[in-house]
Amino acid sequence: MKICVFGAGYVGLVAAACFAESGNTVVAVDVDQAKIEGLKQGIIPIYEPGLKELVLRNQAEGRLSFTTDVPLAVKSSLINFIAVGTPPGEDGSADLQYVLAVAREIGRNMESFKIVVDKSTVPVGTADKVRAALQEELDKRGTSLEFDVVSNPEFLKEGAAIEDFMKPDRVVIGTDNVRTAELMKELYEPFMRKHNRLIVMDIRSAEMTKYAANAMLATRISFMNQVALLCERMGADVAAVREGIGSDSRIGYDFLFPGPGYGGSCFPKDVKALIRTAEENDYDFLLLKAVEEVNERQKQVLSHKVQQTLGDTSKDRPLAGCTVACWGLSFKPRTDDMREAPAITIIENLLAQGATVRAHDPEALAEAKKQFGDRITYSTNQYDILADADVLVIITDWNEYRNPDFDRIKAELKEPFIIDGRNLYKLSRMRDYGFRYLPLGRNG
Ligand code: NAD
Ligand code: UGA
Repeated sequence: MKICVFGAGYVGLVAAACFAESGNTVVAVDVDQAKIEGLKQGIIPIYEPGLKELVLRNQAEGRLSFTTDVPLAVKSSLINFIAVGTPPGEDGSADLQYVLAVAREIGRNMESFKIVVDKSTVPVGTADKVRAALQEELDKRGTSLEFDVVSNPEFLKEGAAIEDFMKPDRVVIGTDNVRTAELMKELYEPFMRKHNRLIVMDIRSAEMTKYAANAMLATRISFMNQVALLCERMGADVAAVREGIGSDSRIGYDFLFPGPGYGGSCFPKDVKALIRTAEENDYDFLLLKAVEEVNERQKQVLSHKVQQTLGDTSKDRPLAGCTVACWGLSFKPRTDDMREAPAITIIENLLAQGATVRAHDPEALAEAKKQFGDRITYSTNQYDILADADVLVIITDWNEYRNPDFDRIKAELKEPFIIDGRNLYKLSRMRDYGFRYLPLGRNG
């Protein structure tokens, strides 16, 4: 099939590469000229495992190309995916300006029947707005071409994007057109491993499914973060509790890890947007407001632990004279994405209290420098930042932190003290090594 993908970001680039990998001819369009020029030369703008190899192979084999030439991209394709950003507006609602701009571009340039697919995360009713914007452009041209609008939300996770796209738990297609549903089924057939995982539904339900999924996952995380803090107070161990409840098949083990709060470009914005959608429909989504508030508080927990253990409250800046070494800056492992990363809140708090902060991250240092500049120091070696530091704080659960050289950590730090926001280590091991160890939701 001939496909065009608007937006060569996390979702658009991954979708374009994966559709090309399954034999389609794909052109990815972006307004960011530098990004497109880079991609043409094989420079991948984001760190995502496996993406580079996939892009280079499909580009070399002629199935994947990049352009800023919208008319050419629209004319040469039957299916037009919209995968541009939907950032939060001032009131928290999803800003649809980029999505609708693409709809208009398609309307201005199409010369034959098109299937327009919303892959961006968009509120219920957006397909109607896309249809109206596109139709308006056709009307301006005095043309009466046919088109169909489909909702096909994306559920991939950063850091595992290729795997998630190639082997999805499910693909949701929202359409009211049987022929379009058949075509979308054909497009996704190569990704349906052992059995059909494609769910066809009406457009509004598909749009809602995306927000409900992210909101449910965020709810599990906030719930578990609160359980963890209660465990700390009650002398219970949240890791044992997670196993205890996760073994119930109705609950399951996933997304029950406590941490420094959820971050990233999606959970925070999508929770906000769903609260806003509810408000616009005279409905108070109380539960989600609590999920959001709990998350904001959770982002304060690690810096609070540092202040409680090392701070001198008689001083204006209680952590003045303290050096804090931080492992992990990206909002999750296997990505360089720092959008809404809990590390931002944590490090800003530490700096505000007078601490000297040093940081390591395997991939996100360039992004972190945009955030913190020279207010903190950075190293590409996870041990270099430990020399004479008062504490090591683990913020992101990168694999390289799971089994580190504890002797070296102990030798480098002023005192052997770790505050672990991801519960990476066995309590007994920490005791044996003689660490003062503060995990989350368990008594170290
Ligand atoms: P992104 O910011 O990484 O990429 C968006 C791209 O769209 C940018 O490169 C931008 O230059 C481009 N763009 C903007 N206007 C354009 C236009 N008129 N024509 C062509 N390109 C244009 O965004 P993302 O993280 O890929 O997210 C895209 C959408 O997918 C959002 O709605 C997001 O919520 C959703 N989503 C993201 C993820 C994720 O893991 N990042 C997962 C599922 C869904
Ligand atoms: C999330 C969803 O998992 C994807 O299905 C969805 O497509 C995507 O949002 C989106 O809509 O953009 P992503 O943000 O890439 O994916 O990453 P997650 O793995 O979901 O992690 C989100 C945050 O939750 C991270 O900060 C992570 O550390 C945190 N988290 C996750 C926990 O604190 N505990 C957990 O048990 C799981």
